Amino acid sequence: MRVVVGISGGIAAYKAALAIRELVLAGHDVHVVPTAAALRFIGRPTLEALSRNPVSDEVFDDVAAVRHVALGQSADLIVVLPATANTIAKIAAGLADDLLGTTILASRAPLVIAPAMHTEMWEQAATQANIRTLAERGITIVGPVAGQLTGDDSGVGRMAEPTDVVAAALSAVSDASAPRPLASTTVVVSAGGTREPIDPVRFLGNRSSGAMGVALAAAARDAGAAVTLVGANLHVPAPAGVELVEVETTAQLRDAMLARAGADVIVMAAAVADYRVDGVADEKRTKEAWGEAPTLTLALNPDILHELAQQPRASVVVGFGAETEPDDAALLQRGRDKLARKGADLLVVNRVGHDAGFGAVDTRVQVLDADGVVADASGSKTSVARAIIDTVALRLAAQQKEQP
Ligand code: C5P
Repeated sequence: MRVVVGISGGIAAYKAALAIRELVLAGHDVHVVPTAAALRFIGRPTLEALSRNPVSDEVFDDVAAVRHVALGQSADLIVVLPATANTIAKIAAGLADDLLGTTILASRAPLVIAPAMHTEMWEQAATQANIRTLAERGITIVGPVAGQLTGDDSGVGRMAEPTDVVAAALSAVSDASAPRPLASTTVVVSAGGTREPIDPVRFLGNRSSGAMGVALAAAARDAGAAVTLVGANLHVPAPAGVELVEVETTAQLRDAMLARAGADVIVMAAAVADYRVDGVADEKRTKEAWGEAPTLTLALNPDILHELAQQPRASVVVGFGAETEPDDAALLQRGRDKLARKGADLLVVNRVGHDAGFGAVDTRVQVLDADGVVADASGSKTSVARAIIDTVALRLAAQQKEQP
């Protein structure tokens, strides 16, 4: 396969060498297109030796061969690592003022980018809007991940490991022909766990990391949907290409969800606090004032899922039922009851405990509708999320057939 490796000018450019080597050793014909800035971080001889092909960043080299479009036209895959904020902005805008730009514009091959930049640049509204644009166009975005950055700082913005970028790039080629069953739909996913304040510094909370909801948002994005993730106190970074709305309390989560109740699909994966503290203190409660055995009075929170299931509503409303029930049949029965009580279309049932579910990597779920179990999936949260989104897409398609 002919692979174009684009390199833009960030310090992570030196890691591109590892990806080039891995692709060449796997038998691919690799052509490297660095930006002028990238060549200040990594030398042309290194790139030529590793790729075994000449390397140029010049649009006016080899003009007779129409090189500025030939590379893009002949590529089976383009992977840009690292992708700086500037290069991401240029791709989003369709700029072609250098060889990497013309190559990308002249290509119909799958494009995979691995963003790398400081956290502030990554979180900038302009960068996030560009990333969303790229994701909506079907471009695969790998990372960034959280970790040590170039200086003393650390945070989200570190480039994904080169081997992970290569793996994602190769699977993008096989996925390119895969169906995108949620194309032109809007999906809103809630994730994480809500916190209920006791006073300005304390809260009641739960152990939800948000990993399942984040995986669902990424799976819906990969299925072609425009995704909003309403994240309550997430312990994991939100996926690229997804609009993130951050909330803390159940009341904030409710406002954010009800404002988006008209989406095509709503997935309530958040662990919502059933109760809030009645009478939140304005000032930090002291031991002296609170005494030896204080009592907290709680008030019942509204059931957001139940509210979202009322008309007018999304075409598909999905709830979660995390239970500690050990017996399989009893677990399913609780799921059925919950589905009916909440009025959702689908309910994802999973067992949680001290060592399963919350924060765990592997998980097993069953998806119920009013007629019974419609899907059963186990494995990583990523693969389970894909199975759930596939089930949602089938349900949406069936519904749209009924009500054209
Ligand atoms: O009743 P239970 O809390 O087990 O229901 C879980 C489902 O209901 C989840 O989808 C959760 O997001 C949602 N939920 C809600 N509002 C609440 C409590 C739970 O939307 N107050």
